[in-house]
Amino acid sequence: MDARRCFPHLAVPPGSVVTVRAVQITTFGGPKALRPVDLPPPSPTGDQVLVDVDTAGVNYSDVHRVEDTYLVPQRLPLVPGAEVAGRVRGGPSDGQRVVALTPGTGGYAEQAVVDPRAVFPMPDDVPDAVALALVLQGTTAWLLLRGCARLAPGETVAVQAAAGGVGSVAVQLAKQWGAGRVVAIASTEDKRALALDLGADAAVDLSQARDADGVRDLLREANDGRDLDVVLEMTGGHVGDGSLAALAPFGRFVVYGRASRTPQTPVPPTDLIGRSCGVTGFLLAHAVSRPGGLGPAMEELLSLVRTGRLRVVRGGAYPLADAGRAHEDLLARRTTGKLTLTVR
Ligand SMILES: NC(=O)c1ccc[n+]([C@@H]2O[C@H](COP(=O)([O-])OP(=O)(O)OC[C@H]3O[C@@H](n4cnc5c(N)ncnc54)[C@H](OP(=O)(O)O)[C@@H]3O)[C@@H](O)[C@H]2O)c1
Repeated sequence: MDARRCFPHLAVPPGSVVTVRAVQITTFGGPKALRPVDLPPPSPTGDQVLVDVDTAGVNYSDVHRVEDTYLVPQRLPLVPGAEVAGRVRGGPSDGQRVVALTPGTGGYAEQAVVDPRAVFPMPDDVPDAVALALVLQGTTAWLLLRGCARLAPGETVAVQAAAGGVGSVAVQLAKQWGAGRVVAIASTEDKRALALDLGADAAVDLSQARDADGVRDLLREANDGRDLDVVLEMTGGHVGDGSLAALAPFGRFVVYGRASRTPQTPVPPTDLIGRSCGVTGFLLAHAVSRPGGLGPAMEELLSLVRTGRLRVVRGGAYPLADAGRAHEDLLARRTTGKLTLTVR
């Protein structure tokens, strides 16, 4: 007897999968909370797109979500992963090779649903790790400098975590777009050497500074004794406060993270009058929902990579089941550039 004829609701269409391998958390915590599991395949809703994942990208926001220290509270169970590279499953683009953003989670799995506004066809000569370095961290760097800071040629820029995923792209874009001086901030000798190799004019270790005044002094020193026009700030605490204090009149302080888990000290807007400074927040999700979305950023970043003017720093590929190790390395500040998970 053909069971599918008697019980059509149980039928599994040819080519569909019953379970997918994924990495999930069921309690909030550190990297050890990440466990390999088999899950039912995700179901796209609305115009979401289903992707067979070859490689998933790892981002610092994944670490925050697993700890539940992200901007908004997270819900359990949770499969982390904000970006994937793979092939579209089903629909008119079936089989198309793409890189894409998930709705924020779901990427650490053999199949993921992705945001239709952030799906980009990938040419065959662009490896997954390169495409993944661009789609979230690269577009963030692009938007921080062009959209938020509106960097003008000749201006000075400080880039925190300059050897990291966002930072390594930001250093290169700032130079590419004519920054007068790029000051790279990084916590180890090797990371500072990498940032200088990527084009930074100076590199400084702010983890040596005990307070905001110390941070401001080190930044000024690294900028030939002058204040800075732009600071890309993702640390928080006294590093954030001292970085704001190192801004020149008409400077822009662009806040996009809080890796220290300590917020920056609030600044009353009237205090900014006396310094003619601007403070801007940035969240990539807002850029995705704007007309045009990430398209212009992806187009330029891909062109820069394919013409050899932008170098992607590959920080390491981990098996999917070792996602916890990738998170451990990120938390311990051992990594540079783009981290990926090999899914198939
Ligand atoms: N707002 C947005 O839309 C958006 C988008 C993308 C990323 N981000 C943020 O941008 C930052 C960089 O993200 P990423 O994915 O590219 O990560 P990443 O820079 O590759 O890795 C994080 C780096 O942060 C630095 N760091 C500073 N303080 C730290 C601390 N207390 N603990 C651990 N690391 C610390 C470390 O570099 P050093 O050792 O050199 O200090 C570390 O390597 C993160 O804060 C992330 O949340 C925000």
